[in-house]
Amino acid sequence: MKLPEELQFIANARMPQKTTDARLNGRICIVTGATSGVGLAAARRLARGGAQVVMVCRNDEKAATVQAELAREYSVQADVVLADFTRLADVRDAAATILEHYPHIDVLINNAGVHMTRRTLTVDGHETAFGVNHLASFLLTRLLLDRLKASAPARIIQVNSQGHRFGGLDLDDLTWARRRYAGLRGYGAAKTAQLLTVWELADRLAGSGVTINAMHPGAVKSNIGMNNGLLYRWYNRIVIRPFLKEPAIAGDAIYYLAAAPDMAGVSGKFFNLTIEEKPAAHALDRAVGKRVWAMSEALTDIIGRETLAKVQKPSQG
Ligand SMILES: NC(=O)c1ccc[n+]([C@@H]2O[C@H](COP(=O)([O-])OP(=O)(O)OC[C@H]3O[C@@H](n4cnc5c(N)ncnc54)[C@H](OP(=O)(O)O)[C@@H]3O)[C@@H](O)[C@H]2O)c1
Repeated sequence: MKLPEELQFIANARMPQKTTDARLNGRICIVTGATSGVGLAAARRLARGGAQVVMVCRNDEKAATVQAELAREYSVQADVVLADFTRLADVRDAAATILEHYPHIDVLINNAGVHMTRRTLTVDGHETAFGVNHLASFLLTRLLLDRLKASAPARIIQVNSQGHRFGGLDLDDLTWARRRYAGLRGYGAAKTAQLLTVWELADRLAGSGVTINAMHPGAVKSNIGMNNGLLYRWYNRIVIRPFLKEPAIAGDAIYYLAAAPDMAGVSGKFFNLTIEEKPAAHALDRAVGKRVWAMSEALTDIIGRETLAKVQKPSQG
């Protein structure tokens, strides 16, 4: 029985996944949030494929443990750049460090993410899930973009989520000051915003040799949500976790998107692991996407807030 298009993601999760034997020997691959879950699985798989892994992480002890494991198990160079994505200044510093040390970048994997059950704000005043999942990855990508272009062919992978289907994006209330915060909708808003900017950036990158795609890494065992309260952590551990898969499937899928010759030139797509899929309709609205792009540029100070006011102002007559 064929599922309706909006439920096709359920069937896609059971499809056989694509794999590749292609190697990434010596290629420089940046992975954010490589200390746990999906990012750790991706870092391991990239190292197994011969890549030099640059981990952008917030916890130096956890990062050092992963760094030592990658060097020991796969005999590759693994480096650490520290940044807490609740601070956009940290993202800028991390980008500056990367630009200083790496003359080329072959793959950028924006993976670091959080799920919050309560509304909190980052030091920059953004709702935390929106700030960490969307704005930090948007800013890091923009700051590294010229280096990626100069390194072409290069690939950008946004670790997104089926959670974008929860919606929740209100461009007039990005901080949830006027609405009651709901964790899944806050997470959905951040992932929706990220997806909308993927289509925008894919258009801008056409012909540059740099591709950008988004992916859902499967429903896998990780620490996501474990920063929340006792009740949520209990629910997560007892009710949800038994149904989750091993994170290695996410690592394998990310590796396929990063390394497979079949993916060369593929850009502006959403993948459920390695299966191309249609996102929810609200995440395909290009008019909203153009507003999200401009707002994201303003909120990360890529353009001035006064420029945003002009961009956002409805045209007269
Ligand atoms: N697990 C799933 O089933 C699933 C499903 C769909 C999408 N995803 C997506 O997969 C990505 C990875 O999540 P995960 O499930 O692997 O969760 P996870 O185990 O909690 O890993 C998240 C990673 O992001 C890092 N991180 C969190 N907040 C950060 C901050 N403020 N600054 C810098 N790094 C930060 C974490 O660092 P620490 O180790 O220091 O905490 C960790 O390395 C996220 O984008 C998530 O939305 C996961």
